[in-house]
Parts: sequence; structure tokens; C-alpha cells
Amino acid sequence: MSITVGPVELILPTGPGSLTLRLSTTLREAIQSGRLPAGTALPPSRVLAAEAGCSRWVVTEAYGQLGAEGYLVATTGSATRVRAAAPGTAPPPSPQPPPQPRPRYDLTPGVPDLAAFPRARWAEAYRQAVLELPTDLLAGRALVATTAARTTLTGFLHRTRQVQEDPTQLSLTTGSAAAIGWLTAVLVRLGHTRVAVEDPSWPGLRAVARRGGLEPVPVRVDAHGLVVEDLHRLRDVRLVLVTPAHQFPAGVALSAGRRLELLEWARSVDGLVIEDDYDADFRYDGRPVASLQGMDPDRVVLLGSLSKALSPAIEMGWLIMPQPLIMDLLGLDLDRIISPSPLTAEALAVMIDRGWYERHLRAQRLRYRRRREHLIAALAEHLPQASVSGLAAGLHLPLRLPDGVDAGAVVRAGARRGLGLVSADRYRMRPAAGPVQTPGPGPGLVLGFGNLRDRRVGEAAERLAHVVSNLIHSNLGD
Ligand SMILES: Cc1ncc(COP(=O)(O)O)c(C=O)c1O
Repeated sequence: MSITVGPVELILPTGPGSLTLRLSTTLREAIQSGRLPAGTALPPSRVLAAEAGCSRWVVTEAYGQLGAEGYLVATTGSATRVRAAAPGTAPPPSPQPPPQPRPRYDLTPGVPDLAAFPRARWAEAYRQAVLELPTDLLAGRALVATTAARTTLTGFLHRTRQVQEDPTQLSLTTGSAAAIGWLTAVLVRLGHTRVAVEDPSWPGLRAVARRGGLEPVPVRVDAHGLVVEDLHRLRDVRLVLVTPAHQFPAGVALSAGRRLELLEWARSVDGLVIEDDYDADFRYDGRPVASLQGMDPDRVVLLGSLSKALSPAIEMGWLIMPQPLIMDLLGLDLDRIISPSPLTAEALAVMIDRGWYERHLRAQRLRYRRRREHLIAALAEHLPQASVSGLAAGLHLPLRLPDGVDAGAVVRAGARRGLGLVSADRYRMRPAAGPVQTPGPGPGLVLGFGNLRDRRVGEAAERLAHVVSNLIHSNLGD
């Protein structure tokens, strides 16, 4: 059933929960997502009740609830309106800063080799997709629609990541951040309020969860990955977000023992593990470890994306969920814009079918492995007082700086010398207390080498060494 609120039409889902609850949830999500911006006047309760075919009491209850939560404001004699700066809403768009050129020595984590994007192959695959996509599929977005593409992708993930081979469990997304947004909406409806998150971790995903109503709760990471034992001490937490293949940013993998412990924990609390399959394609010292999702498809939700393997500009990823959650996802009033185009999905399927995608991944693996080795050797030569840690995997390296060197100062001084750097502190949820027990990153930097030009690796290490030694000397002079 749909209802009209201001200029937008909202779908009021059928399903569990009272009508008051479903109405307040629908309005809350529309406010949080920005579909109902600040100042929007809500229809009088009598009008909305008539449209929804319910009693006026249902609507006044829902308005009252959202008023108490700070989403709505009622003024005597005037309409109830969406309040400015309602909780969880995006801030008003600020003027876009002009695009910054990428630094000459780009050591920013999270950026793949942009110059290696397979332009010709992608163009050919996209051309084929445009010519061959069934006409009906031109009607909409690709959430669960392009069955052939989903089957191809699921088959690929089954072969390479050992995920459960059931295309009906896979939804196409515009990336992992979007996937977390959907998932949060589903999980909040199911009553979840908190999610355990690795500390340190990438703020991108936990920020989306927080915005959607799930409070991120930090959990330690050590040499074996997430410290599962800590989960048992948390109250009201039945969800955990992890990067098992390659922890970001500590650079470790979740050990075999911890994987079993983690799944055991999820079963014991009737909870879910959200597996961010980050960096899974890039393991250089052997075959990547299989996904957790394949070990227990009823307890694990897997997120993956093309952001590192191809480019974030493709805006495509996937979300693999246990069947019951899919039904909840389909019950959401999904904004059409957040699922990818069926043409993009089809182009990826063409890339996979023709073997181009795997060939590209193989070439990238080789390229990144060599670059990583080169960077480690250059750092050992120019900056022997610093130490790197982490697996031979992925696109980043934790670098521990010599004692007493402030990472923030290195980042600022590095920027003046053309170095794009990020301090490890940026990924922490809590400040590191005392000596850091985790294997990395302790106080230091997280060096990304995905988009560092090969010919600049040596120079980058040399410049970084200069920056660090200047800071040490100026500290000594203080
Ligand atoms: C840990 C982690 N997970 C996932 C992603 C990918 O996010 P998305 O697919 O939204 O680009 C990133 C990107 O930097 C990341 O650092």
C-alpha cells in the first residue's frame, strides 16, 4: 500500500508489526534517507488515515512517536513538519570542494590502480551488454532482476570464494557501503540496536550503520584478527562486522580457530556475522582463505564490491544474505537509485564469462605483489627505523613509525612534499590506550600502494624517510 507525504509516495509494507510501527518506521527511514527533507509538511492525521485505511489514532500515535524521537515537530495551528537536523539525517549538502588532484606520491589506502582499469575490455563488455540485454530488463534497476548476471556472478563467487551457490540469495548493490545501508534498515526493523565492529576499522561502513540506527561497538583486533572472546562480554549485541580475508587496516587474517569461534558465537546468540570480503582477491603468499559465508550461509551475510578489483566508479557490489533476510529486504521501500544498472551487471557477467575478469585479477595480483615487495624493500633501505606489518595481501601496509614521531605531523609535512598519507589513528574507534597490543597498525601510518606509480615507489619511500628524519631532528632541537 502506498501513502502520499508531501511530494513523495512511500510504500507502507505489509508484514509483521502493528500498523503504527510500520508507519513510523516508513516515515523515519524516509526522513533519514533525505526523501522527506527538513520542513516537509506531513498530511493532517485525518487525511493520512483515510489514505492508509486506518484509524486516525494510528497516525497520531506514529506522529507522536517520531516527535518524541526528534524527527517531527508539531506546532499548534500548523502542520506537523520534519524537523531540521532530525537524528540520523544527512547534513545539508555543503558546496562541493573543487576536485583535488591526486598526490604525486599516492600512498592513500583504499585506492586501486586507476591506470590499470581495463578500459578496452570493459567497453567491449558493456557494448555487448547493451546489444544483448533482454528488452524487459531495460525497465529498471538490477537489485534482483537480472537473473542471468546474478547466476554468473554467484557461480564466480562460488568458484573463487566458496560462497553458497544460490543466486536467489544474491542482491546487486552499488557497493559495500550501500549494502550496509540496506542491511541496517532490515536489521533495525528486526530489533537490532548495536553492531560489534573491529577497532580499528574503515569508518566508511560503520558510519553508514550508525546513520541507519545501529550503534557501532568497538572490539579489539590482534594477530589472529577480531578478538572473538570480547564479543561474549557485550550486551545486546548479536551482530558483528568483520574483514576476515584481510583486516583493514591491521593487515591480518582471521585465523582458522577464530573463524570457528566466531560462527559459534553467532549461533549461540542467534546472531549474524557480516563479512566484508574486502581484499579477498589479493593474497600474494598462496590461495585466499575461503569466505566465512560458505562455512555457514545461515549465519553470515557477505558484502563484496568491484571498488578495489576494477574501480569505485563502476558502482557495483553484491550482498549475499540468508533467505529470510532477502524477504525482509524486498519488503523495504528501496530507493531505486541505490541498486546498479542492469547494464553494469550484465557487463560484469560478460567480463566473467569471457574470462576477462579473472585475467584482470591475475594481472593485478602480480602487479600489486611486486609493488608491495618493492615498497617494503625501499622502506627498509631508506627508513630502517620504521617497521611494516601485515600479511602479503591487499593494497595497504601498516607502518609503525619510530618512537616519538607523531603520525599526524608526518601526514601534514608529507602533504607539502607531494605525499598522500593517512595516519593509523584515523581508523581507531577508541584512542590506543598505553602500549598498543595489536600487531599493527600501532601509532603510525597505513600506507596504500594500490595507486602508487611503480616508478615512484623508491622516491616515495625516500621522501617519507626525509619527512620523518626532519621531524626527529626538529624534536631533538626542541
Ligand atoms: C574495509 C573496506 N571495506 C569495503 C570497502 C569498499 O566499499 P565500497 O564497495 O562501498 O566502495 C572499502 C573501501 O575503501 C574498505 O576500505
